[in-house]
Parts: sequence; C-alpha cells; structure tokens
Amino acid sequence: DKKKDLTGKEVLLTAGPTNEAIDPVRFIGNHSSGKMGIAIAYELAEQGALVNLILGPSHIPVDHPLIKVFKVSSASEMYQSCQQHHLSADICIFAAAVADYTPETVATEKIKKSEDEIILKLKKNVDIAASLGKVKAPGQIHIGFALETQNEEINALSKLKNKNFDMVVLNSMRDSGAGFQHDTNKVTFYFKNGDRQNLALLSKKEVAAHIVTAIKSLTPPN
Ligand code: PMT
Repeated sequence: DKKKDLTGKEVLLTAGPTNEAIDPVRFIGNHSSGKMGIAIAYELAEQGALVNLILGPSHIPVDHPLIKVFKVSSASEMYQSCQQHHLSADICIFAAAVADYTPETVATEKIKKSEDEIILKLKKNVDIAASLGKVKAPGQIHIGFALETQNEEINALSKLKNKNFDMVVLNSMRDSGAGFQHDTNKVTFYFKNGDRQNLALLSKKEVAAHIVTAIKSLTPPN
C-alpha cells in the first residue's frame, strides 16, 4: 500500500489531445492517447491527492474515487475547465497535447468536395500553461511537458522559463518508445533551480511515479 503523503493536496492535471473542429464531421487533432497524464493521475490519487483531470478526447477509462474527470474536446474548452480549477490547486500539471492553432471559423455544414485546393485559415489558441503560469499563486507548483522533435534541450528550457514552470518533463520523438501512444516513455526533468534528472526508458506508470516523487521534493508538506 502506498504512503498517502499527498492527502489534502488538490491537483489540476491536463491530459490527452484536443480536437479542433473544422466542420460538423472533421477536426484537427494529434496522436496523444492520454496514457501519460492518466498514469500521473492514478499515481497522485493512490498517494491521497484529489485530482481534477481535464481530459481531452481519449479512449482510456478512468475510475478512481479521488480522480474527478472533466471531459473536454477543444483547447478552448480545456482552458475554460482549467480556469475553474486553477485557484484551488496546490499542484498543476500540464500533460495534454494542446493544439496551438484552431480553424478561424467552423463551417456550419459539411465542407463539400469541389475545388482542387482549399485553404484552411487557423488562429492561435490560448496557451493554457503559459496563461495560468502568469497567475500562479504563491506556493503553487506548475509542472509542464515539452514534446520535441529537435533542439530538445533548448526548447525544453525555454518552455520552463516562458511558461513559468517549476519543472518541465522533456520527451523527444527521436527516442524510440517515447512520447505518444506507447506504454513507455523516456524523459528528462529540468528544474527551475537548474537541476536535471535523466530517466531510462520506463513504463508510463514508472515515469509517473518519478514525476510525483519530484513534485513532492518541490511541494511544501501539509
Ligand atoms: O497521451 P500520450 O499518448 O501518453 O502521450 C504523452 C504526451 C507525449 C502527450 C506527453 O508526454 C506530453 O509530452 N505532453 C505535452 C505535449 C505538448 O503539447 O507539448 P508542447 O511542447 O507542445 O507544449 C508545452 C507545454 O505547454 C505542455 O505542458 C502543454 O500541455 C502546454 N500547452 C501547450 C499549448 C497550449 N495551447 N496550451 C498548453 O497548456
């Protein structure tokens, strides 16, 4: 049985992809399954934390008395739901793969096939982690992810700083068995104080346990 070290802590956690509607039958999405974030939710709940899980479209069932699931579809819905749970959170973890752009307009009817080429105009979404990072409460811990395909470390460190994270978890698409969909992940932690920690290829459950241990080293006890 796990030590219930996190009893009394409240967590805001995003996971899964977002779907950005193009018309009533199509969307722009990504390959996130929700596995990484959901593994973190279970680890936190097993240690006694109350987890508000803001979950984009995912097929993975979640069932734990300490995990409250708020299902959302688009980045904008995810942002609204996060805003509801940010103020009361002791710990915020941003594991979702959020679309950076969304169609400027959503067609009300299915777009018909006619022209050889059509142009889809996109506008920027709110950056949820960056926006909540600007209103981080004193003592609140923010943990982000960085999913990269190149210049991994530079990009991870710039996300750590720009989004006001206390720690960023880097996963690279160049590492086999890391990132989207797999049951495994290979990550490096970068902390605000300059520390870093490299982990081997592990199951997402094991990675989640390491993330929670790292969070506990940053969190003031109850
Ligand atoms: O779900 P799985 O299949 O298990 O895959 C896990 C994962 C690869 C999705 C996960 O480990 C991961 O890396 N999640 C973050 C993916 C991502 O979108 O990274 P990013 O580098 O684009 O974003 C940086 C950070 O800002 C992330 O914490 C992200 O949640 C956050 N963000 C980004 C854009 C945005 N509009 N709002 C955000 O909050």
